[in-house]
Amino acid sequence: MVVEVEAIGAYLDGLLPDRDAVLTRLEAEAREENIPIVGPRVGGILQILASLVGARRVLELGTAVGYSAIWLARGMVEGGKLTTVEARETMAERARRNVAEADLSDVIEVRLGQALALLPEMDGAFDLIFNDIDKESYPQVIPWAKKLLRPGGLLVTDNVLWSGRVADPADSDPWTEAIRTYNRTLADDEDMETVILPVRDGVSISVKRS
Ligand SMILES: C[S@@+](CC[C@H](N)C(=O)[O-])C[C@H]1O[C@@H](n2cnc3c(N)ncnc32)[C@H](O)[C@@H]1O
Repeated sequence: MVVEVEAIGAYLDGLLPDRDAVLTRLEAEAREENIPIVGPRVGGILQILASLVGARRVLELGTAVGYSAIWLARGMVEGGKLTTVEARETMAERARRNVAEADLSDVIEVRLGQALALLPEMDGAFDLIFNDIDKESYPQVIPWAKKLLRPGGLLVTDNVLWSGRVADPADSDPWTEAIRTYNRTLADDEDMETVILPVRDGVSISVKRS
């Protein structure tokens, strides 16, 4: 099952602005090595959201090569800081090199570790948290996001439609189930106002009410 009709995806790609050399290279590497980055359509959404909330402090869970972190950082106010967490050392190292090439080493700090282990060490308040870690951990991110976000802050999450698998009743894979739990929990949470955009693999935006 696909979330987007292929022709519409291609049409939207035709409207994308050109990316700079770093993002273009990371998109090519992700294609070649099957690295699951958000891609330019979701990257643009992240940049606009960071800009709209005047993001000064951003937390990203799931760095990979630093692609989404670079988009987010470019939407933040000058002097802002983004912390991004990556469990794999080789990826964290690669992300640090890419961030340096994007001239964002002063803005982006790549921390090596498991997100659920590092979250208790984080000091809020964040203006925006981007969640893109292993899907089984998604439900456990919600209480931390609520604790660490400022009122009006955003929890943005990738892959919430999981190639449409969340809507397939026959799919009981643990990652699919965890994403369903995540989406339902946020939908029922009175402290959070959530919308799901069916862009690419599904992106949710949850605003912390108070
Ligand atoms: C989907 S990729 C992130 C893509 C990145 N956000 C982007 O779009 O450019 C997920 C990354 O998070 C890391 N990861 C997965 N589960 C994690 C966890 N529980 N804690 C920290 N990192 C994790 C993986 O090693 C992988 O590099």
